[in-house]
Amino acid sequence: MLNSIETAFKGLLSCLQSIKMYGESHPMFQKSLDSTFEAFREVFSERQEVVIGIVGEELAFEKEILFDLAKFLRPAILYLKERHIERIAFYRGLNREELLRFVCFIAGPKEDFKGDFQASLSLAGVEHISIGRLKVSSGQEEGEGLPDQSELYNSSADVVGQALSGVLNSEKVDQLALKFSLGSIMENFSSQRQEMLKLATVKKYDMGTYVHMLNVSIFSMYFSSRLGFEKADILNIGIAAMYHDIGKLYISRKILHKPGQLTEQEFGNVKSHTLMGAQIMLKYTDTLGILPVVVSFEHHLKYDSSGYPRLPFLRSQHIASMIVSICDVYDALSQRRGYKQDYSPDVVYNIMNKDRGKTFDPELLDKFFKFMGFWPVGAVVALNDESVAIVVSQNEFDIRRPKVQIVWPQEKKRQADLLEDQTLSIQRYLNPWKEGKEFLKLA
Ligand SMILES: [Fe+2]
Ligand SMILES: [Fe+2]
Repeated sequence: MLNSIETAFKGLLSCLQSIKMYGESHPMFQKSLDSTFEAFREVFSERQEVVIGIVGEELAFEKEILFDLAKFLRPAILYLKERHIERIAFYRGLNREELLRFVCFIAGPKEDFKGDFQASLSLAGVEHISIGRLKVSSGQEEGEGLPDQSELYNSSADVVGQALSGVLNSEKVDQLALKFSLGSIMENFSSQRQEMLKLATVKKYDMGTYVHMLNVSIFSMYFSSRLGFEKADILNIGIAAMYHDIGKLYISRKILHKPGQLTEQEFGNVKSHTLMGAQIMLKYTDTLGILPVVVSFEHHLKYDSSGYPRLPFLRSQHIASMIVSICDVYDALSQRRGYKQDYSPDVVYNIMNKDRGKTFDPELLDKFFKFMGFWPVGAVVALNDESVAIVVSQNEFDIRRPKVQIVWPQEKKRQADLLEDQTLSIQRYLNPWKEGKEFLKLA
């Protein structure tokens, strides 16, 4: 019994994902709707109703907590929680049309989830599904953004961790959960506040090994979405970005984190991660596609083909590899790790621009900084009038003059657009782990 319920819920997750990716009329969506409806029919051949509740971060079915299923459905649980849904009941008699209406309904933006949505559901003619709402304190509802996004970031780091360790242990990859997580991240790029980017640029140091993979994935998806790629391509680039360094996980940490110069043999060893990664990802082309293979293989090839692996013929990088290689270097340079110092954004910008036209496609690199800004969103900066501010959003016409929130001193607190207010300028970056730490709290 549990099995068919599990299939039905996994089916729902896949419906939700494909309607977001392809839309209601696409055959991919229709197909997952059909199989999900079949799964529910099977469930109702044995019982009158299924009620699923969300308890904390777990999924509960009747009196049991479904830890296993909850792990799989974590991104979906968060998704429902964001919409303050804590209970969903499906009743015998459910028809395909109702299931379709329901999926369309919950696929809508979370801002639409206000008021009595049970009534809207009934109005849409859905009689055999009911949803119970979580009571939210008004403060939580207004403070949309940070707590949810932070939760999404952390849970995505978990999903990414699972997806990577799955490949390392030659297990099947839960591509649905992975796509769902990355897809939810992608949706957040459209919001003005760009919290997800902020998390990737600022919050990184204290988290696990997989943060680099998640960040490169977030940056690559953001970059490709700004470049105008289609949703499905953005997601594929995000997945490929996530696996770009999978081959590295087979190389001794001692070599990877060695502070001094590597011997020729050690460097040869490091270089082999590209080929090794491509070989590993070849086993997953049926679920993850060919892009992870291509990007693993090519991400150190460089724009002028002077990188590695050395090839017997000239080959230019795939656009996805170009995107990932820019985001990879950007994150590696700006991240603080145990064995190396992080660089401030101005230093990162200068280092990367030295390689403009060599390692990186010049136009693409310019676009990257145009979208990311010289001082990234979330950066703590000191202004020329001795106040301290946090970067809120970018001005693409002048990457050095973003919009900021002045947080200190108290009497100067306000929003400022440095493009409009030319008397103000950014003087230096304050490291959010050191001198900037106190100011971050004032935001
Ligand atoms: Fe690499
Ligand atoms: Fe990397």
